[in-house]
Amino acid sequence: MNMSPPQSFLIPSLLLIVITSLVFASFCGAAAGAKREAYIVYLGEKHEHEDLISLKHANMLERIVSGDEVGSNLLMHSYKRSFDGFAAMLTKEEARQMGDMDGVVSVFPNRMHKLHTTRSWDFIGFSNHVQRATKESDIIVGILDTGIWPEAKSFSDEGFGPPPKKWKGSCHGTNFTCNNKLIGAKYWKADGNFTGEIQSPRDTNGHGTHTASTVAGNAEESASLYGLGYGTARGGVPSARIAAYKVCWESGCTDADILAGFDEAIADGVDIISISAGAKDLLSHFFEDPVSIGSFHAMRRGILTSQSAGNYGPKVGTTTSFAPWALSVAASSIDRKFVTRVVSGNGKIYEGVSVNTFNLSNRMYPVIAGKDAPNLELGVNGSISKFCIANSLDPQKVRGKIVLCELLDTGEGPFIAGAAGYVTGENGMPNKDLARTFPLPASYLSADDVNAIARDPQATIQKSIQMKDTQAPYVASFSSRGPNVISSDVLKPDITAPGVLILAAWTLLNPVSEIKGDNRFVPYNIISGTSMACPHVSGAVAYVKSFHPHWSPAAIKSALMTTARPMSPVANPGAEFAYGSGNLDPVKALNPGLVYDASESDYVNFLCNLGYNTMALRMITGDKSACTGSTKGRVWDLNYPSISLPTPTRRLGRAFWRTVTNVGPPSKYVVKVTAPKGVDIRVSPRILHSDRPNQKRTFEVVISGEIGAGIASGSLIWDDGAHQVRIPIVIWDSS
Ligand SMILES: *[C@@H]1O[C@H](CO)[C@@H](O)[C@H](O)[C@H]1NC(C)=O
Ligand SMILES: *[C@@H]1O[C@H](CO)[C@@H](O)[C@H](O)[C@H]1NC(C)=O
Ligand SMILES: *[C@@H]1O[C@H](CO)[C@@H](O)[C@H](O)[C@H]1NC(C)=O
Ligand SMILES: *[C@@H]1O[C@H](CO)[C@@H](O)[C@H](O)[C@H]1NC(C)=O
Repeated sequence: MNMSPPQSFLIPSLLLIVITSLVFASFCGAAAGAKREAYIVYLGEKHEHEDLISLKHANMLERIVSGDEVGSNLLMHSYKRSFDGFAAMLTKEEARQMGDMDGVVSVFPNRMHKLHTTRSWDFIGFSNHVQRATKESDIIVGILDTGIWPEAKSFSDEGFGPPPKKWKGSCHGTNFTCNNKLIGAKYWKADGNFTGEIQSPRDTNGHGTHTASTVAGNAEESASLYGLGYGTARGGVPSARIAAYKVCWESGCTDADILAGFDEAIADGVDIISISAGAKDLLSHFFEDPVSIGSFHAMRRGILTSQSAGNYGPKVGTTTSFAPWALSVAASSIDRKFVTRVVSGNGKIYEGVSVNTFNLSNRMYPVIAGKDAPNLELGVNGSISKFCIANSLDPQKVRGKIVLCELLDTGEGPFIAGAAGYVTGENGMPNKDLARTFPLPASYLSADDVNAIARDPQATIQKSIQMKDTQAPYVASFSSRGPNVISSDVLKPDITAPGVLILAAWTLLNPVSEIKGDNRFVPYNIISGTSMACPHVSGAVAYVKSFHPHWSPAAIKSALMTTARPMSPVANPGAEFAYGSGNLDPVKALNPGLVYDASESDYVNFLCNLGYNTMALRMITGDKSACTGSTKGRVWDLNYPSISLPTPTRRLGRAFWRTVTNVGPPSKYVVKVTAPKGVDIRVSPRILHSDRPNQKRTFEVVISGEIGAGIASGSLIWDDGAHQVRIPIVIWDSS
């Protein structure tokens, strides 16, 4: 598993999406002595004291596992601070039996997950000089990631007082110190295998340092990557505190460790959880997804979780962030792009895409095609070496030359073979919206341009130049799209934020390109991914919370979504499934006028209406209220700040109920609807009077008519002249 986002969407179209069905549907019982694997046993809300919970877990294992094996360390981790459950080594048969025990909500294999990177804040209109709340320094952001680089200037505590009184966390790890900015840091690895790892929250990858500094890093002037992206690097809430939970390692992030991160962060007293990782597979059940489980328990305690949508786009149905109680974030571009010119011997200039920090001072190098330099000793021929993947090239042929290739790869192949440069082309440049860093001078061009360069014996590659991208913002091709595979009635992703070419703090233990042998170790790096978009939204959540500390997670989420800047369904393949409500606008979100609020009981009703088992829901919530007759309703009436309407026949006829709560001054709101062609959207009443704060008003939306093929986009806006409270309406052919 590759943890770094730029590499993780190398060949998105080849990613195999595995649809897992309910895990234990078809087991026939495992033979005695069968192989043990790690499983998560999830038991819902916690009821007992922590010591009792550990005892209970040991007892449960004893009842399932045959005598002599109990003593051996089968219990890997007990979750007991914020919810109840454990990770343990079980055979398939034992896991099945465990699933049948009283009190067990779900049992699922401990899967491995993927992590999904100055100008970005300015681009969305959030300048360095926005109004700030004095409460900002009371906000604690919990970041579940690859750890953190505590010495980065972004996390210096100059000017910070002691942590807020509510803080119950701590700092663990040798050769690792927290301060009044980075107030907590912990790490877990449930499998206990630390081979090649540092046993500390120290970030050896860079990803966690990057996301943490984007959420809440101090403002650092004159930051750049060798002059590229030059400017002030800063987090959304520079006065807020950071708590780092290292749940991702070189091999990836497991369910067991992600759950441990949530269990601790919630109990430690964080205000917001940011997680730029998620399931690799599409799931069928919320309570087999560690982020859905963790964020549910967080929501119960007033903590909103913001999660990256995933890097599996542009195909639809690829988002791996599902839960309506969490915020799911897509990645959009900012108005900055990097252009890397290749100049051939005859002086002709070809424009490509990459983040190339190397300056060859226009010196010409001989060129050679990868197909003409196969590593014969390793049995490679030209039909393979044309792709220039690692170990496919003959070092004697390519050393000191610029290699021309036919696939966008990491550049590791030419780099380890000693090439002077890497020029690669693909028909139509499907990945041109994503400039990447390489371990050697490199540029990505069209296949035609690479063929033209091949006609000249010499070429050079110039250092990248920064240009304005006038088409921004658009949703990045790699950004995962909806619909939501667990519940198509909830639109996912929810919102989009800058996630392309983001400059932020980095670790000193992983080089710029993340390729071994690259000796550029830097304090700031430029990377891309929905992983980089998520912390922008987490920062905005913290910003809104610093002004409205008592707003519920759903209210904050609604404020961000209803004030997001609408995006074009024509310019963005996948429309609402690409961008949700639109592009983040943190300043507007402070004053949304109305919010679509929801409490825990609304989510529980939603789960009941989806057909979730009452017993399981009572375990998850820890109370007896779940699925009583009076609450039975329709899944699509969850008070969500968007409307999603799948139709297998393209014909429509459905009514939705929504309730808005006034969080602004008394006002009169008038409805404005944009309906797609052939569709009628009626709202009643059409005028909402709101005379006092927190007044709730309910309205009905009836959608009828017929749509064409694909996705039809509409919207509903409550407008009082000062606020335009907008929700998207997406209708699509789900046949
Ligand atoms: C502590 O960590 C820093 C940063 O990686 C490193 O330079 C230093 O050598 C470490 N010290 C010890 C005693 O391990
Ligand atoms: C421990 O991790 C290392 C490095 O990832 C791996 O090579 C090794 O197989 C692992 N050991 C076990 C027992 O899983
Ligand atoms: C590349 O290096 C040369 C020589 O040091 C310098 O004159 C030139 O300005 C540099 N180019 C860029 C784009 O930095
Ligand atoms: C080149 O190598 C590949 C893979 O080893 C093989 O399938 C192919 O037939 C070879 N092509 C030629 C022309 O030898």
